[in-house]
Amino acid sequence: MQAIQIIQEEHSKLWRVAITVNIVADELDAGSPVPTPFFNAVFDYIEGFVDQAHHPKEDDFLFRLVRLRTDRAESLLAQLEENHQQGPDTLQALRSSLARASQGDCSAFTQAVRVYTQALKDHIRLEERELLPLAREVLLPEDWLEIDRAFLDNKDPLFGEQASEQYRELYHRIVALAPESVGLGAQSAGQLKPGVPSKSDVLLAIKGMDSHYGRIQALKGITLEVRRGETVALVGANGAGKTTFLRTLSGVQPMSAGRIYFDGTDISKLRSDLRMRSGICQSPEGRQVFGPLSIEDNLRLGAYTQPKTQVEGDMEKVFGMFPILKEKRKLPAGTLSGGQQQMLAIGRALMGRPKLLLLDEPSMGLAPLLVEEVFNVVKMLKSQGMTIILAEQNAFAALAIADRGYVLETGNITLTGTGKELISNEQVRAAYLGM
Ligand SMILES: Nc1ncnc2c1ncn2[C@@H]1O[C@H](COP(=O)(O)OP(=O)(O)OP(=O)(O)O)[C@@H](O)[C@H]1O
Ligand SMILES: [Mg+2]
Repeated sequence: MQAIQIIQEEHSKLWRVAITVNIVADELDAGSPVPTPFFNAVFDYIEGFVDQAHHPKEDDFLFRLVRLRTDRAESLLAQLEENHQQGPDTLQALRSSLARASQGDCSAFTQAVRVYTQALKDHIRLEERELLPLAREVLLPEDWLEIDRAFLDNKDPLFGEQASEQYRELYHRIVALAPESVGLGAQSAGQLKPGVPSKSDVLLAIKGMDSHYGRIQALKGITLEVRRGETVALVGANGAGKTTFLRTLSGVQPMSAGRIYFDGTDISKLRSDLRMRSGICQSPEGRQVFGPLSIEDNLRLGAYTQPKTQVEGDMEKVFGMFPILKEKRKLPAGTLSGGQQQMLAIGRALMGRPKLLLLDEPSMGLAPLLVEEVFNVVKMLKSQGMTIILAEQNAFAALAIADRGYVLETGNITLTGTGKELISNEQVRAAYLGM
């Protein structure tokens, strides 16, 4: 049933696009100029991906086989198929309406956009709530084999690896071209080459870490391990102690008991700047960029423990990852959008040449489209071989990309396992995923 997972992932992408498009429509109604390239990117994505790939796959495999196995689905399938068939015409009408909007007739366009996103959401909901459960019930194992084979065929011109690359690119353009309130704003984040294979030895070992705020004990004997090249998620509710843990690890919050071994050395007594020099670099909660300082100077601050000679070269590397920062390098960091500031905070941490990168809630307060973009950045760093601790309230997204995870509750680690195990753990699903 891997096809179901693929379909659901695609639905959640489309859902995020729909939410984003609605926010932009609100901004248009409030008088913002029409971001034509953004809407073109959205329409190109829907045309290339939804109308030409996603829908035909559903029609040809899922719907056909469900119809074969039951006659209970006829009216549901007929409705879904009709939606699919109308897709290209509706999109064409939207493109024409966009052309008129850029000449001044905006309200007709925003109205058409809202009708469209509503229909898209209704359609997704119908598939998720009715069709997929029915498919699970009536399809036979051999049906799933056939469907999965179709959805996972890497040589498939519509769904193969090369095609998915194109769709990713189309999706990425939406994020890049979206207005700054919801996306990155007119620049595309670069791609880094996949890198160094990781060795599996332990980079960080923490034993019995306690930390207090006055008489309040915020960490109660934390013991954990991070291996080289691993991405470890630290998930837990508001106030669980994630930030306290990261700050204690980087040495800015006092540790009242316990030991920290990093890269083979006991650093329990080491000052925070020396920990940073040894390769523990943190992107703090709430981003905390220095608003009045330029983007360049913010990045330089991240390298203050490093030799001067490498700084310019490293900054170019960060600019390669986040071209939007290069474009705005001379501007005060405070002028950046929330998503861009998060990129800057991560970039600043990278300037310290981390062996271990600590990310404290990088998705906090970001628009849905950008949450995904930030997690893509984390995935990219991971693919380069970076070792990462990712603290997140957004447990699902964090565990989905993590090798392993720890669940933190009021200063205690209550569960640990691989990302996959924790995502499917009933207790975690109930408490953190809201399911
Ligand atoms: N400066 C402080 N003074 C006193 N208590 C604090 C302070 N900072 C945090 N705490 C307390 O320590 C506990 C852990 O807080 P912490 O900020 O580490 O949690 P968190 O998991 O990062 O939460 P969030 O998801 O909201 O960021 C909480 O009970 C919190 O009230
Ligand atoms: Mg926190």
